[in-house]
Amino acid sequence: MKIPITKPYLAEEEVAAASEVIRSGWLTQGPKVAELEKRFAEYIGCIDVVAVSSCTAALHISLLAAGIGAGDEVICPSYTFIATPNSIVYVGAKPVFVDIDPETYNIDPELIEDAITERTKAILPAYQGVATDVERIYEIAREHSLAVIEDAAPAVGAYYNHKKLGSESHLCCFSLHPRKVITCGEGGLIATDDKQTADKLRKLRHHYMSVSDLERHKSDKIIFETYPDVGYNYRMTDIQAAIATVQLERLDGLILRRREIAERYNSAFEDIEWLQTPINNDDAYNTFQSYMLKLLPDAPVKRNTMMEKLLKKGIASRRGFLSCHREAYYRRMYPDLKLPNTEYCTDNCIILPLYPALSQKEQNYIIENIRKIADEAVVDTPALERSLR
Ligand SMILES: Cc1ncc(COP(=O)(O)O)c(C=O)c1O
Repeated sequence: MKIPITKPYLAEEEVAAASEVIRSGWLTQGPKVAELEKRFAEYIGCIDVVAVSSCTAALHISLLAAGIGAGDEVICPSYTFIATPNSIVYVGAKPVFVDIDPETYNIDPELIEDAITERTKAILPAYQGVATDVERIYEIAREHSLAVIEDAAPAVGAYYNHKKLGSESHLCCFSLHPRKVITCGEGGLIATDDKQTADKLRKLRHHYMSVSDLERHKSDKIIFETYPDVGYNYRMTDIQAAIATVQLERLDGLILRRREIAERYNSAFEDIEWLQTPINNDDAYNTFQSYMLKLLPDAPVKRNTMMEKLLKKGIASRRGFLSCHREAYYRRMYPDLKLPNTEYCTDNCIILPLYPALSQKEQNYIIENIRKIADEAVVDTPALERSLR
């Protein structure tokens, strides 16, 4: 058996939607992007949504829209994808890494205040499929007059405190990359509570042009556009938007399917004391973009051995998230920085395959193999100890 880490769920409806756009002749950002934005804003329950070419682009222009620039500091986790701190560097600011809560894998709000200096301008939490402490982070930001830009790349469709993630956010960025719950190849969506901010984001994504292509196309007058500031080409194409709109209709169903598989995994592993299963409760509704286990310090097997054994059985796995501060660019910035929870998770977590089309047979095969590795490891431990004596 060969089981990949993920498989996007796409069907004939997505093919038809993309074909319709190709036949229409309007390929780049146009009516389909506008429709996706409207539908996504309705889904989230927020004031407006701006679609861009990726979540990385979304983070970049969100930081610009929040007025973050050279010399500023932005507090963020290191336990995330490299795009999180990179987006801060793009605007000339400095990422200030804060450790995570080892249960939620998200930034530990209790450590944020200690990291605030007079240069701090924003907090940029990253949610790994489950959004936690959202209200606490906004509270800290309000107390210290800081902006909040949320990296919710893997967390589309997540809830916190029974509220949909992004519904009350100022700048909340989601990804549509194929590793995510819904996809259109590449894409990013920014949920905002402010029309003026949305307007600025729309300019930033399109060279800061004073009118959009769609407006010019619809106009019966000649319009000469202007470029009052520097912007970017971060446009989403209408082909991507049409696919994403179909995917959005599937979103709740896809999340339910992921949660069903995650629940099976959770109950299959709950008796293995040295494995920490992911959190999922009413306050933090997990979308299970990834299913991540943590090997606790008393685990009788090493994470990398587990990954190798699974690979030999045809099961792909991943290590979980990076410790960004240990990557070369950030190591140069912070040669001595130590973040114990972040580093422990990078070295001891494992992501298992979880995607909607994962069959019962494949799930059983994964569970059996994890349990076999666990049983063998427990049996092996005394033998190993004897051999070391
Ligand atoms: C936490 C986080 N932030 C940002 C990104 C970047 O998203 P994109 O690939 O859409 O630019 C990712 C993608 O994996 C991510 O996991």
